[in-house]
Amino acid sequence: MTPQVLTSVAPLRDRIDEARRAGLEVGLVPTMGALHAGHVRLIEEARSACGCVVVSIFVNPLQFDRTDDLDRYPRTLQADLGMCADAGVDVVFAPTVEEMYPTAAECTVEVGRIADHLCGRHRPGHFRGIATIVLKLLQIVRPDRVYFGEKDAQQLAVIRHLVLDFNVPVHVEGVPTVRDIDGVALSSRNERLSPEERVLARSLHSALSEAGRHISAGERDPGRVTAAAGLQLPQDGRLRLEYLEVVDPEHIQPVTQIEGPVLVAGALWVGSTRLIDNLMCSPSAPPAVATPPGN
Ligand code: PAJ
Repeated sequence: MTPQVLTSVAPLRDRIDEARRAGLEVGLVPTMGALHAGHVRLIEEARSACGCVVVSIFVNPLQFDRTDDLDRYPRTLQADLGMCADAGVDVVFAPTVEEMYPTAAECTVEVGRIADHLCGRHRPGHFRGIATIVLKLLQIVRPDRVYFGEKDAQQLAVIRHLVLDFNVPVHVEGVPTVRDIDGVALSSRNERLSPEERVLARSLHSALSEAGRHISAGERDPGRVTAAAGLQLPQDGRLRLEYLEVVDPEHIQPVTQIEGPVLVAGALWVGSTRLIDNLMCSPSAPPAVATPPGN
């Protein structure tokens, strides 16, 4: 069935009120379009839990730190609508920039320490832009459940805190990363890679997997873990590592010693395309210490 496409806030609210009156749970999947199988996984999760599934498609200027990246971001609305139809989406909300930001936004969401590392460190204002648009979408749609990918682990952590800090009555659902057969996380930006760059892109997942192996094998020092992982990146002028860090998954702060589950996250430039990925890693249980007899 073709989803209803709405571009303004007022009719969207009416449509959602109608669904709610019919007793349906509302699920929201926020996206910037250029949909792929990763987004579809989020939609499927929403479809299985909610009677009314809303997908928003909005390339949010406030979260881009570089205008060339905003200009080059793929916009494929017709194809996106086809994918939404196939996935059984009820409503697509595809507003213009003027609809979402009718005036220069005087108020934005300030994101604290959780944005000090990983992408937040390298993309000033990025998480302010994300937290602001997501809070707006949550206010507009007022969904029961909202879906985010674990691929953007720092984004997911920021949203979980946003919802707690602002008492937003919504369940935040995290969805595992969808990968290509060679391990590369699906991403709208992958489209920009040349075939050779696409091969080089595999090295990010290889590096993260290597980090995971070292952690399971008992390495507790994050510096040694990232050094070993970095060796997986080929010496190639087209690759530039932006960051590779071991952080705690809830507050996205560096750890000095790996004692529990950690997030290993990286950002890699492949030519002029920036890719991010991460892996949750857990140290193996410490070897059992034999208790001397009699104790
Ligand atoms: P976008 O990059 O379009 O991603 C929309 C959602 O899809 C995010 O929750 C993201 O984590 C998820 N996603 C992307 N690739 C995925 C993959 N390979 N596997 C699983 N999930 C994946 O993230 C944004 O848009 C924006 O920042 C947004 C939240 C919409 C705010 O503007």
